[in-house]
Amino acid sequence: MPSAENPYYKKSLISVDDIKERQMLELLLEEAKKMGIHRQAKEALEYLKGHGVSLLFYQPSTRTNSSFHQAAQFLGASVYNPGSMQYSSVSKGENLPDTIRSIANTTDASLIVLRHPDDNSSRTADKFAKMVKPEPVPIINAGSGTLEHPTQALLDLMTIYSKMQTIDELKIALVGDLLYGRTVKSLAMLMARLTTGNEFAFVSPDQQKFPQEYLDKLPEGTSYTETEDLDSILDWADVVYMTRTQKEWFEAHGQMDEYEKLASAMQMTTERADEMHDGSIVMHPLPRQTELRYGVDSDPKAAYFEQMRFGLWTRMALMKLMLVEDPSA
Ligand code: CP
Repeated sequence: MPSAENPYYKKSLISVDDIKERQMLELLLEEAKKMGIHRQAKEALEYLKGHGVSLLFYQPSTRTNSSFHQAAQFLGASVYNPGSMQYSSVSKGENLPDTIRSIANTTDASLIVLRHPDDNSSRTADKFAKMVKPEPVPIINAGSGTLEHPTQALLDLMTIYSKMQTIDELKIALVGDLLYGRTVKSLAMLMARLTTGNEFAFVSPDQQKFPQEYLDKLPEGTSYTETEDLDSILDWADVVYMTRTQKEWFEAHGQMDEYEKLASAMQMTTERADEMHDGSIVMHPLPRQTELRYGVDSDPKAAYFEQMRFGLWTRMALMKLMLVEDPSA
């Protein structure tokens, strides 16, 4: 049963909408901070001793896969991680419900972490994982389709919290492929609902605008602008969150001509980073293409490598909260 004090306990994380209130978000950020302290001391933790965490990745990943794997191990869990589902019976036509129930039974998983190209994949997986006996298995959505990447949004907020000392009253520019990018949608929706006083700028070519249905879902009173002019927000923004043009989705939609035109439309260069004010940061979920020039890496504003480390801590915190009823014990 979900605990009243620990709203994460034995619950799936399918969408940022599952983070119901500010207190729930703050619990995770505080726990992630503690995980950072544990990791800096290289402590061996046993919060997940006896548990198994199974990683099912139907799409490529560097950061999400490695950080979930290591996070589970650092907490004392055993890990099943085939790396890619390419060599599983998925290639023989096995469907997601059967794969989920098979992995739940054969790996005795306490948690399944799923990355999948379909928007509804985590919800479907959750439906079938709830039927597993003797106990339902919670699902963590590690990126689904073009709409959701909830753990990325949480680690992005952990990054903002750590670098800016607050998640409120900031000016946030979300830049790039806002149409197909899932990280920007999850981050914007989570922040708009659970933080206060932030102003957003959605910066993209006209063809890659933040979808209208998402703009319509922003809570009333959310302050935002839309622009195609990256230069216009540089000295305004506290956080510039760059994203790549998502080639795989242009390919899937037969839009490669369009991709070639848009791929380099928005670029963070050293010159542009210089235009940003002192104390501001550049974030990026990575991988990158040409939108984030390598020269920016040595600028103190570049926060995207630390962002990955915050991802490790955030995923450790999330899995602990999902499997340990009283996280203070
Ligand atoms: N940010 C992110 O999801 O990276 P990966 O695709 O490498 O996991």
